[in-house]
Amino acid sequence: MSVRIAIIGGTGVYDPAILEDVREERLSTPFGSARVKIGTYKGKAVAFMARHGEDHSVPPHLVNYRANIWGLRLLGVKSILATAAVGSLNVQMKPRQFVFVDQFLDFTKSRPQTFVEKGVVHLDMTDPYCPELRRVLASAAEELGLEHHTRGTYVCTEGPRFETPAEIRMFRHLGGDLVGMTSVPEVVLAREAGICYATVAMVTNYAAGIAQGRLSHQEVVDVMAENAANLRRLLMRAVEMLDVERTCLCHATPLDPSAVP
Ligand code: HPA
Repeated sequence: MSVRIAIIGGTGVYDPAILEDVREERLSTPFGSARVKIGTYKGKAVAFMARHGEDHSVPPHLVNYRANIWGLRLLGVKSILATAAVGSLNVQMKPRQFVFVDQFLDFTKSRPQTFVEKGVVHLDMTDPYCPELRRVLASAAEELGLEHHTRGTYVCTEGPRFETPAEIRMFRHLGGDLVGMTSVPEVVLAREAGICYATVAMVTNYAAGIAQGRLSHQEVVDVMAENAANLRRLLMRAVEMLDVERTCLCHATPLDPSAVP
């Protein structure tokens, strides 16, 4: 059975507990290797990848995003649902709420953002997150009665440190709603690979200077754990509702195979 759907689990999401008949594979790519678990849910083959490793040993700036996305492309994946713990800069977006982000602001500094190593590709980024996947997620959240926002701007920082309050004030002035450390380049590479991609952002805290007191990774992990069951219900309902037929433009610019190593 071909694998058309993948879930990339971020902080707090390490285990595809809902999948049946799980097998593990190591995918070799020109960019390094990636580990994936493949199982089935309601008759659909689903791949699961833990972005930071199952023991959360890989920090956001060292994730091999290219190997992960290329590996999913090799499997034949057409849709990726990625989870992300985020801080909120927008008081309307509260801890434990889900946000199906529609835009990003990129403040990363050291990460390869393209597969292309020969020639130049300037990809359209008008709708970086697949509008169809976002619609499916919104319908699933609506149906399950989960509090959510159907759009939001994700500010991606380099990390691994949290931000200063001055940075958060700047991001807010620029139109950011949420802050996290992983959506870029994952979303960009998925588009290059022609894979529909959506982020299920879960607000775990208010960002630095908005939150009362200091931030800690433990707080982020604890809030993710509290809401893990809701996140799992949301993902599985979305997987169930996903259709392979698409009218979106995520596949519109196929990669020239000769441009990739
Ligand atoms: N900043 C950056 N990344 C995050 C945060 C934050 O406040 N919360 C969860 N991931």
